[in-house]
Amino acid sequence: MNTTPHLQELDCTYLLHPFTNHQDMHREGTHIIRSGSGCFVIDEQGKTLLDGMAGLWCVNVGYGRKELVEAVYQQMLELPYYCSFLNSTTEPTILLAQRLAGLAPARLNHTMFNSSGSESNETALKIIRGYYHLTGRPEKTKILTRRFSYHGVTLATTSMTGLVGNTAPFGLPLAGYIHVPGPHAYGVDSDLDPVAFGQWCLEETARIIEMEDPRTIAAFFVEPIQGAGGVIVPPEGYLKSLRELCRQYDILFVADEVITGFGRVGDWFASNLWELDPDLLTMAKGLTSGYLPLGATMVSDEIAEVLEQGTLFAHGYTYSGHPTPCACALANLDLMSAENLIPRVRTDIGPYFQAKLLRYKDHPAVGEVRGGYGLIGALDLLPKGGKAALDPKAPLGAKAARLLREEGLIVRGIRDAIAFSPPLIITMAEVDQLFAAVDRMLERLLPAS
Ligand SMILES: Cc1ncc(COP(=O)(O)O)c(C=O)c1O
Repeated sequence: MNTTPHLQELDCTYLLHPFTNHQDMHREGTHIIRSGSGCFVIDEQGKTLLDGMAGLWCVNVGYGRKELVEAVYQQMLELPYYCSFLNSTTEPTILLAQRLAGLAPARLNHTMFNSSGSESNETALKIIRGYYHLTGRPEKTKILTRRFSYHGVTLATTSMTGLVGNTAPFGLPLAGYIHVPGPHAYGVDSDLDPVAFGQWCLEETARIIEMEDPRTIAAFFVEPIQGAGGVIVPPEGYLKSLRELCRQYDILFVADEVITGFGRVGDWFASNLWELDPDLLTMAKGLTSGYLPLGATMVSDEIAEVLEQGTLFAHGYTYSGHPTPCACALANLDLMSAENLIPRVRTDIGPYFQAKLLRYKDHPAVGEVRGGYGLIGALDLLPKGGKAALDPKAPLGAKAARLLREEGLIVRGIRDAIAFSPPLIITMAEVDQLFAAVDRMLERLLPAS
């Protein structure tokens, strides 16, 4: 019989977890999730938890959606796998590529499929290198990203990631991966207000581009909202100017929409909402609502034309365009459309969630509220002594997330912040439940009196 202690023991003995301090986990015991329905998961102890993170920013349509399960089952009966190498592929793969072309910004009509966000960014990097080789500019190899960005875990996508905790343990970034400031005034203790700091970031970015020589810079990868880095929402005007800067210096602009895609900000893509007109766009997570692994790299017509005129494009995974996750994605997109989830996030539940989040603006335990769009946000927490009393060795985010789990809510602790990214089907009553748990947690973190 697999009792919880038995499973925990097996886990400690056999399983290596991603992004986990194993000593802490072995001491505290693994948290095993058994089932899910709607916005809730139930753990091994039978405790019901409101999933304020939609898994890892991905279960957009919520748990237990039979439409997705049925589509996967039918596809597996019909054809569980076939590859898209050489001249073969499958029907769901083609139909999903067509569907994405209708949802993405106008110039993006061509898709290469992968199995994750990391692979989608890695594919983008290879496509970009291939593109410049084919157009006679092989010296354009450098990649720009921003501090606090998160782009994945392969050697190259870790190198793009602007979080020292992710790069330093592996002796990364690789050469040619250049990090410019991210628009997070609060995070770097700048005295400038967010808009002025965004302007400074743009000036600094232009300076770095000049210093590195734009003729050697291939692309700039940008998360429209920097999720894993702490839900950093771009200040007014910043993204548009960054996009323009790339155009001015002939640098490809890549929107990493692994988190922001598929309704999270109240549009199919943040690139649509903010008219970013990217040259490439990468996605994963919400594409299948996390039910099966699937990522995609979309490229502009111009890039696709160049690639298609080249000889063999020697890139792709065994599972690129796997029919089963593609069928799952089609069912997921059908469901999102049928339930009007995106308009709902834009005009109804999103504004409700954001209004509730903003109430913490003047709370003594909150240093900064980050949000404003859709169903994503963060609260940067403070101890009694204020910002000066923060201790990097005992970040408040992890502590708050632990307390919140006791209060029946799952959030993500990021440094001193807690992040929220609930399923897009969340109701107003569930949003109220979420913030009631936050209120109780704040009371425990920073007792009144
Ligand atoms: C913006 C962004 N890009 C890329 C990735 C990597 O995706 P994956 O974990 O599926 O490899 C993530 C994961 O959280 C992400 O948030």
